[in-house]
Amino acid sequence: NKPVLLVFLCFSLARSRSLKRVTLAVSGFWFWGDAPIRVPGARDRGISMSTERKRNARLFDVDRSSVSSEGYSLDGKLDSQRHSDILQKRETLPVRKQKNEFLDVLKKNQVIILVGQTGSGKTTQIPQFVLEAFEVETSVKRPKMMVACTQPCPVAAVSASQRVAEEMNVIVGEEVGYSICFEDNISDKTVLKYLTDGMLLREAMAKPLLEMYRVIIIDEAHERTLATSVLFGYLKLVLGMRPDLKLVVMSATVEAKLQDYFDGAPLMKIYCVQHPVDIFYTMKPESDFLGATIRSVVEIHQREEPGDILAFLTRQEEIEEACHRISEEIGKLGNKVGPVEIVYLHSTLPPDMQQKIFEPAPPPLVEDGPPGRKIVVSTITAETSLSIDRIAYVIDPGVVEQKFYDSRVGVEFLMVSPVSRDRADMRASLAGRTVPGKCFRLYTERSYNQDRHGQTDPEILRSNLGSIVLILKKLEVPDLRHFMNLPAEEALTRALKELSDLGALDDKGNLTELGNMMSKFPLDPQMAKMLVVSPGFNCSNEILSICAMLSAKFLFLVPNCFREGFDKVKARFVDTDGDYLTLLNVYNEFKRNIIAEEDLSWCDTNFINYSVLKSAQNVRQHLVQCMSRCGIEMCRTYLYGPEYYDNISKAILAGYFMQVAHLECTGDYLTVKGNQYVHLHPSNFLGGKPEWVVYNEIVSTSMNFIRTAMDVRGEWLVDIAPPRYYLKNFPNSEAKQILELLEKWKEEQRKWEREESKNKRYVPRK
Ligand code: CDP
Ligand code: MG
Repeated sequence: NKPVLLVFLCFSLARSRSLKRVTLAVSGFWFWGDAPIRVPGARDRGISMSTERKRNARLFDVDRSSVSSEGYSLDGKLDSQRHSDILQKRETLPVRKQKNEFLDVLKKNQVIILVGQTGSGKTTQIPQFVLEAFEVETSVKRPKMMVACTQPCPVAAVSASQRVAEEMNVIVGEEVGYSICFEDNISDKTVLKYLTDGMLLREAMAKPLLEMYRVIIIDEAHERTLATSVLFGYLKLVLGMRPDLKLVVMSATVEAKLQDYFDGAPLMKIYCVQHPVDIFYTMKPESDFLGATIRSVVEIHQREEPGDILAFLTRQEEIEEACHRISEEIGKLGNKVGPVEIVYLHSTLPPDMQQKIFEPAPPPLVEDGPPGRKIVVSTITAETSLSIDRIAYVIDPGVVEQKFYDSRVGVEFLMVSPVSRDRADMRASLAGRTVPGKCFRLYTERSYNQDRHGQTDPEILRSNLGSIVLILKKLEVPDLRHFMNLPAEEALTRALKELSDLGALDDKGNLTELGNMMSKFPLDPQMAKMLVVSPGFNCSNEILSICAMLSAKFLFLVPNCFREGFDKVKARFVDTDGDYLTLLNVYNEFKRNIIAEEDLSWCDTNFINYSVLKSAQNVRQHLVQCMSRCGIEMCRTYLYGPEYYDNISKAILAGYFMQVAHLECTGDYLTVKGNQYVHLHPSNFLGGKPEWVVYNEIVSTSMNFIRTAMDVRGEWLVDIAPPRYYLKNFPNSEAKQILELLEKWKEEQRKWEREESKNKRYVPRK
């Protein structure tokens, strides 16, 4: 076996990172000398819109001064005129007419299911009715019990709390607050809390009977998110133990199964007027749905009667591009058409920008001129979670980006797929919520009737269950199989196996000490493990920043006309060894350069999206608190030391050893788990095609891409993963054969080291 050993030793030396790092550091120095590139007018395009913000802006900054001070008095509350307008509008909501009926049913029952179409006032009004009914005084310092209202995404929780605070004329964070992953805005005064469904589950880990709540409202139940599905099961157990607790389930569609699930709980419907909606289909299938959406918006603006437009697209970058192109196209039409306000909406948009979707369309430029229009371009967030008034035209390209989990091979994908018929109908109904409307479907009628599922599968059937199983283990829920009530057990078995491979569960399926620590982080199990074990690789500081940056999407904001300049700028941050290191460089440089929020020129010149970096900084602070609560050591690895790359890569692998791909002879990458052919995502910054890569996620478009990748060494894989992990678990492949060889080599090395130490021990003394 000596030749094998020799080959690998040479191989390892040739790939030594310390040599490569020195070269890069030198070339990096050269790049830093470049003259900065200015982006004229960047601020107008939203590239850096935050100079007006307060220094300690929150993740979702609810500082009203950043929205508009109009309508507010000095103490931050609404002035009386604006408040009375809001109250007047609130009285017109359908749900107000059924207030007494609702309270009557709630008084008599522990559980109630409430169904009402989007915009009927469920999210903003029902929690206020409940507050009134239970006389939870809003003025007392420390309320005994609160009302919780869950939302499927952070944007919805923040937006609802803002609106309700306005209606109650209080400041967000006081009587009405919100709690989302990585941010709490509540106080001792809080009596009504809007929170994401995932946060409520996390709160249950600290207080299993959720004693702090008198009433729990599960909103947007029709979205059937993973956390909501699990909450139903968990709350059913809690309701049995807490007869004083009441549960309200709210949904936009009738969920008959829920009624059965909660032992025949009463179902109450909110009566709403739905205006007629004309539906139009294309004659031929449309392949470029982005282009078709843009064309449709421009045509509606030119030809149709007044009324606002809502267009659905899939991804944030697509939405931003669409807004940019729509603005260009409409700009070309000059004064022939009315003014437009183009707003985009996605689930991570900060509230000052979210609030724009509720503002009215701009007035005509001249009296009797063509009418102004508001154009909202959104992901599914605008489908039900946020209800926008005065929409008369909906453009539905018929696609949605969703997570899919292939439980046979254990691989999760982010994929654009056709929307189901029920979602398409939901989108169309939005056009007729406040006025009669039209819905333009950018697909054929045949495709609507034949190519689509009737309903979207609940998230629990298309997700990796690892995170949720970890929480349920921590909650000590007995008999998970029965509790989760899944049609097939494959996904649950996979999740249990993955958690045990990560070391979070022992042989009997109980939580280990490592698992217990991992459950305290609001992260997926792999990322949590990477963080918990990072001190072992002397790099918890760096891994913390990497985790925070992985939560930050769309770091760079580059207008098309600056693409060339961007390549130069990008080179300032790039580490060709791995995108994770590039992210780390961006974070470190951001911290070094942003000293005062008043001067964001560094962000402008580097095309950096300030609010994204700011939120990453906030995520990091929260993770630091989690670390200190768990007593995990903070340490850092020296940037120019020979160990820098090795330490960070090994810590990443300790969490993500299941997500590695090998470059096959054919020139394609093959994932070790699931044997999927994948390609490096075009956004990667790697300096070539390394033999082994660890990756963060798979994105499926025309092909399967691995996004955020890092060059790693084969021998580390067998070192860091559990013994014989790859060989026991995965089908035969070129990668597996190499790993087998590496495993053998490792065995040899260990034997050799044992011999060495034996020989040393018996060296005769002179
Ligand atoms: O939950 P549901 O869809 O039934 O309605 P809602 O979210 O309570 O919204 C009721 C009304 O409040 C709608 O007309 C919304 O446009 C409005 N609203 C608003 O103006 N600003 C917000 N931040 C939230 C809601
Ligand atoms: Mg709602």
